[in-house]
Amino acid sequence: MVSKLRTAVIFGGVSSEHEVSLVSAYSVISNIPADRYDVIKLGITREGGWFLYDGPLDNIPAGKWAEKRYLTPAILSPDRVRRGILSCGWNPEQGATLLNIDCVFPVLHGKNGEDGTLQGLLELSGIPYVGCGVAASANCMDKFLTHTLLEAAGVPTAPWQPVLPPDMESFEQTAQIIEEKLGYPVFVKPSRAGSSVGVSKAGDRNSLRTALETAFLQDSKVLVEKAIAGKEVECAVLGNCCDVSGPKAAQALGEIAPRQEFYSYSAKYQDDSTDLYIPARIAENSAEQLRQLAVRAYKAMGCDGLARVDFFVREDGSVLLNEINTPPGFTSISMYPKLWEASGTPYPELLDRLITLAMEKGQAK
Ligand SMILES: Nc1ncnc2c1ncn2[C@@H]1O[C@H](COP(=O)(O)OP(=O)(O)O)[C@@H](O)[C@H]1O
Ligand SMILES: [Mg+2]
Repeated sequence: MVSKLRTAVIFGGVSSEHEVSLVSAYSVISNIPADRYDVIKLGITREGGWFLYDGPLDNIPAGKWAEKRYLTPAILSPDRVRRGILSCGWNPEQGATLLNIDCVFPVLHGKNGEDGTLQGLLELSGIPYVGCGVAASANCMDKFLTHTLLEAAGVPTAPWQPVLPPDMESFEQTAQIIEEKLGYPVFVKPSRAGSSVGVSKAGDRNSLRTALETAFLQDSKVLVEKAIAGKEVECAVLGNCCDVSGPKAAQALGEIAPRQEFYSYSAKYQDDSTDLYIPARIAENSAEQLRQLAVRAYKAMGCDGLARVDFFVREDGSVLLNEINTPPGFTSISMYPKLWEASGTPYPELLDRLITLAMEKGQAK
C-alpha cells in the first residue's frame, strides 16, 4: 500500500482577508482526496498566533475555530533537518514534539500570506508547498511591480501612473500629470492590498484627491490607472513555470459582470450585485489571445502551482491584463476551481494536481 502524504493546510492569518481564507480552507480540506492525503490543520489567528486545530471542520468557515480546547500551540519550523511542525502544548515544561510534514498547502490571502513572507519560511523549511515562490508571490501582490515587469514582458496593461507620499505634497502638479497622461475617469488603488480594499474610481480632481487619500490608508505605494471600459474576464492557470510541458490556461474563462460601478469589496463578499458567466461572453479570438497572454504573464512573473490572471476585454476585442492573484479564492464557488471544473478537472482532482506540482517542484530543487 502506498503511504499517504501528510499535508498541512495553513489557514486564517492576520490580513484583512482572514474570513475568505477560512472559507477557502474549508473547501480545500473537505475536497482533498482522503485516500491519498492526511490533512493537518494549522490555523493562524487574527492576532498572528499559530495553532494545530483539532475541532469540528464546520467551525473553520464559521469563524469559531480559535477556541482554546481545540488548539495546540505549534509553529512551522525553518529547520531543514527536523522538518515539520513543532508543537509545544500549553505547558512550556512539556517540551516540543515534531510532526513531520510532506507538503504544505497555504490557503492564506493578502498580507503575510500571499506576499512572499510565508513562502520565505517555507523555503527555509525545505518542505514542498503549493503555489508560487517568494519572488513571484511578492511581485504579483504588488501591482506597481506587476505593471513594471509585465510592460517589460510585452503584456499590455492599463495606462498607469505611480504615486508616492511625497507626490501628495505637490498634489496639484501630480494631478496635472495624471490628467495629461490618463484623463478621467481613473481607478486609484493601493499597490499591495486585495479584495478591492482601498480601490475607488475618480472622475475629477477633487475625487482624485479623496481616492488617493483612501488608497494611502492601505499602502504607501499607490497606482492610478486609466478606467478601462469593457468586460472583466478571469483566466485560471495551472502548472510550474519551468516545467517542460509548461503552465496551461483553463479552456473556460469566467466573466465578472458587476451591476455596481465596479467589482468592489461589497460586490465581492456582501451582496449579490454581480453576475458571473462561464464561459465569458467574448469572441473566441479574444479568448484565445487572453489565454496566451495569461500564460505569458504567468511565466514572466515566474509563477508556480496556480494563479488567476484577470483581464479587461474592450468593445473592440482588445485585451489588457488587470492583475495576477496568487493564490486566488479557493472556495467551492470561487472562480478558479469553477473554471477548472468547467474545463473538465473536478475540484478534488485539481487539489491532487496542485500537491503533485508542489512535490515535483520540491524534488527539482
Ligand atoms: N483600470 C481599471 N479600469 C476599470 N475598472 C477597474 C480598473 N482597475 C480596477 N477596476 C475595478 O476595480 C476592481 C478591483 O481592482 P483590482 O485591481 O482587481 O484590485 P484587487 O486586487 O483589490 O482585486 C476590479 O475588479 C474592477 O472592477
Ligand atoms: Mg481584482
